[in-house]
Amino acid sequence: MGIEVVVEGLTMSFGKQNIWQDVSLTLPAGEVSVMLGPSGTGKTVFLKSLIGLLKPQQGRVLINGVDMVRSPERDIYETRKLFGLMFQDGALFGSMSLFDNIAFPLREHTRKRESEIRRIVMERIELVGLLGAEDKLPGEISGGMRKRAGLARALVLDPQIVLCDEPDSGLDPVRTAYLSQLLIDLNARIDATMLIVTHNLDIAATVPDNMGMFFRRRLVTFGPREVLLTSDEPVVTQFLAGRREGPIGMSEEKDAALLAAEAVSPADRSTEPRVIVPQLEPSPGLPPRAAVTRRRERVLGMLDQLPPAARAAIRDTYARSAAAPTLTMPATGSGS
Ligand SMILES: Nc1ncnc2c1ncn2[C@@H]1O[C@H](COP(=O)(O)OP(=O)(O)OP(=O)(O)O)[C@@H](O)[C@H]1O
Ligand SMILES: [Mg+2]
Repeated sequence: MGIEVVVEGLTMSFGKQNIWQDVSLTLPAGEVSVMLGPSGTGKTVFLKSLIGLLKPQQGRVLINGVDMVRSPERDIYETRKLFGLMFQDGALFGSMSLFDNIAFPLREHTRKRESEIRRIVMERIELVGLLGAEDKLPGEISGGMRKRAGLARALVLDPQIVLCDEPDSGLDPVRTAYLSQLLIDLNARIDATMLIVTHNLDIAATVPDNMGMFFRRRLVTFGPREVLLTSDEPVVTQFLAGRREGPIGMSEEKDAALLAAEAVSPADRSTEPRVIVPQLEPSPGLPPRAAVTRRRERVLGMLDQLPPAARAAIRDTYARSAAAPTLTMPATGSGS
């Protein structure tokens, strides 16, 4: 089962350029989380910090008691084996067949026999829907297939933590919908802790248990999906609506004058209540996601610390999932 990842007070700079500061969050074991944020806000840098490839100046990343920032490299190296990584650019070897690409981590990090490697690789190839393409070179298949090959490669070492950096970039809407389902199915099968960086609003709305967002060198928010999806923060509503009006500008931040001008215009005041679309369920025939029960207890336990809109949305979510007849809602005194 997945492992909890605890991030505490992480601050990262390259020279004088501060990327983000004082980032704290917990990726709950086995749950799926999505990280949003405009380009250049340091999402990829964050993923690389989680696996210890980049070293933030302050803070800790705790996994099974190992600090991926400052523990001895030997411990970090061992802990890194728990991860499956799917990079933004696919990162396949162009001269190797898909089979060899996907087999690469097994040949590199294990002493498994070739017959065993074949069994595992073909299983993963089937999982991501690439059966029949295993002998092709990356240059001979579509971008969407390369993405799925990258995902298959991320999965061969039975990762307990899966990080995906923009798995949807370059995919058409239908492929993106399949990918969303694939990610949920994957979580149902392996119960790994997953963090997905994406700009895709459909993935954000339908896949994760938790969501966060980077903006202006801060983690603006991180928590149950309902918190971000009902948030009134201008940066969040602008991002989720894909609007030009708001604090996010072409070069990440707008100048103050433009912002002030927008503040007096009513254009960006959307008052209709936000509808939260239901989270995807695993495909028929798969086991239920083990994280669902854990997440429900966790989220209901923190209900009275959440904003009223999020609280209402969570109550609504769990009231609708009639699959849980024994569910009891804790009384929360105030609010709706
Ligand atoms: N190794 C590095 N050395 C110096 N600066 C870096 C390094 N890696 C990243 N940066 C800088 O850190 C900032 C954040 O980059 P990052 O790639 O994490 O953004 P991002 O949020 O992933 O953007 P996108 O959504 O476009 O992928 C950028 O300004 C980038 O130039
Ligand atoms: Mg990036």
